[in-house]
Amino acid sequence: LLWILRGRTRKPGEPPLVKGWIPFVGKALDFGKDAHKFLEEHKREYGDVFTVRIAGKYMTFIMDPLLYPSIIKQGRQLDFHEFTNKVAPLTFGYPPVLRTAFPGLWEQIKRSFQLLQGDHLAPLTESMMGNLMLVFRQDHLNGESDWRRGSLYEFCCSVMFEATFLTIYGRPATGVRHGGMDRLMNDFHKFDNMFPFLIAQIPIWLLGRTLAVRQKLISYFLPQHMAQWTNTSQFIQRRAELFEQHDELKDVDKAAHHFAILWASVGNTLPATFWAAYFLVSQVEALKVVRQEIVDVLRDSGVDFSNSSDIMLSKEQLDKLVFLESAINESLRLSSASMNIRVAQEDFSLRLDSDRSVGVRKGDIIALYPQSLHLDPEVYDDPQTFRFDRFVQDGRGKTDFSKDGQKLSYFLMPFGSGSSMCPGRYFAINEIKQFVCLLLLYFDLQLEDGQNRPGLDPSRAGLGILLPSSDIRFRYRLRSV
Ligand code: HEM
Repeated sequence: LLWILRGRTRKPGEPPLVKGWIPFVGKALDFGKDAHKFLEEHKREYGDVFTVRIAGKYMTFIMDPLLYPSIIKQGRQLDFHEFTNKVAPLTFGYPPVLRTAFPGLWEQIKRSFQLLQGDHLAPLTESMMGNLMLVFRQDHLNGESDWRRGSLYEFCCSVMFEATFLTIYGRPATGVRHGGMDRLMNDFHKFDNMFPFLIAQIPIWLLGRTLAVRQKLISYFLPQHMAQWTNTSQFIQRRAELFEQHDELKDVDKAAHHFAILWASVGNTLPATFWAAYFLVSQVEALKVVRQEIVDVLRDSGVDFSNSSDIMLSKEQLDKLVFLESAINESLRLSSASMNIRVAQEDFSLRLDSDRSVGVRKGDIIALYPQSLHLDPEVYDDPQTFRFDRFVQDGRGKTDFSKDGQKLSYFLMPFGSGSSMCPGRYFAINEIKQFVCLLLLYFDLQLEDGQNRPGLDPSRAGLGILLPSSDIRFRYRLRSV
C-alpha cells in the first residue's frame, strides 16, 4: 500500500520521473486538461524523455521526433497489442480475444485488415463513390438552386456516416438505403461522447445510459440482420465468416466485433472530414485551387463536369489530386492527437540513438505524442496556420521535413505507426477526397459571417482526431455548371 501511495523512485539510468502530489492519480488531471500543453511544459523542464505517473501507470514520453524510429522499430520488447487486447473488449463489449479461448482468432482478425488495402482498395473506393453520390443526390441535389443553410459538422457527419456504413456493411434487403440511419447515428454519437471514459476503463455502469445505448448499437449487427444485407464489403464478409468458425462466440459477441469496426471506420473519419471541408471553405484561394484541380483531373479523363450528371472518381484519379491530398494532410496535422503506445515486456535498456539509452521497467508504457511534432515550429513554420499546399513540392507530395538539420522519417502521424498503424488509412483518405470533390464540384460554399475558427475539443486527446468544440454555420447552393 505504501508503495502504491508513494510510488516508485527513479533508478540510475532511468528518465526523470514526475509523480504529482496526488497518490495514484499522479498527473492524470493536468494531462487530461490539455495534454499538448502539459507535455510541452514538461519537455521544457525535463528534456526530451521523461516518465510521468498517470492514473497509476508509468508512462515514458519520447518527445524528440528524431528518436521516433528507434521506438517504432523496437518490436520485440515493446508490444502494442497488450494494451488494445485489454481496452478494446471492455469498450466495445466483446470477450477478450485470448489465444487460449479463441484459438487462431487474433491472427485471423489481423489478416482480415488486408481486405482494406492493396487490390481491395479499388472496389471499396468505387463502392464508396456510388454511395456518396446516392446520398448526395437524394438528400442534397434535389433541384433547388437557392442558397441553403446548414451546420457543417452535422452535414459532413450525416453524409459520411451513411455512405461509409453502406460501403462497409452493405445495403438493406429491399431498397438502397437503410431505415433509421439518423437514429443509429445519434446513438453512435451518444456512445462516442463516452468513448474517452470507456478507454480510460471507467466501468460502463457508472456512465449513465451508455450500456443501454451500446446494447442497442450492437443489436443492429446481429447475424440475423446482417445476413439480409447485400453488397457487403469483402472485409466484413470475411470477418463474419471467421466469427462463424468459433462456436465459443455468441451472436451478441460477433455483433460487438462488427460494432467495433463501425467505430473504427467513422469515429475519426467524421471529424477529419469536417476539418478538411472547414479549412478549404474558410480559405478562398485554397478552395479555388483545389476545385480547379478536381475539374482538371476529370477533364483529363474526358469528363466535362455538369451538375446534372453523376460523377465517378476512381482510385487512380484520386491519386492525382495532390493539392487536395495536401489540404487533407494539413487538416489532419492540425486536428489529430493520437497517442502511440507500446508496453515494455521486460526490464530493459531502451536504445534511443547511437549514444543514448534509458532504463524502462516491465509494464511501463512508452508513448509518442505526435501532436507535439505536428505543431513544432521547427518542423512546420507557423504551425497553427492552415496552408493547403504545405505538403506539395514540385507538383508532387512533399515528404521532406526536418528538425535540427536532420530529415525526419516520421513527420505526419494521424494514423499511428509501425505494427499498430491504422489499416483503413488509404480508404479513409480516399473517402475524404471523394466527399470533398462532391462538395466542391456541386456547390458554391460560404461560411456565415462572424464565426471564429472552432477550437479543438480536448476530451479525445490521445485517441485520434479531435472534434470541433462547436459547429460552423454555412451556406451552400447548387453551382450552375
Ligand atoms: C486503428 C486512425 C479511419 C480501421 C487506428 C489507429 C489510429 C487510427 C490512430 C490506432 C493506431 C494505434 O493505436 O497506434 C484513423 C484515422 C482515420 C481512420 C485518423 C480517419 C481519418 C479508419 C477507417 C477504417 C479504420 C476508415 C476502416 C474502414 C481501423 C482498424 C484499426 C484502426 C480496424 C485497429 C487496428 C488494429 O487493431 O491493429 N486508426 N483511422 N480506420 N483503424 Fe483507423
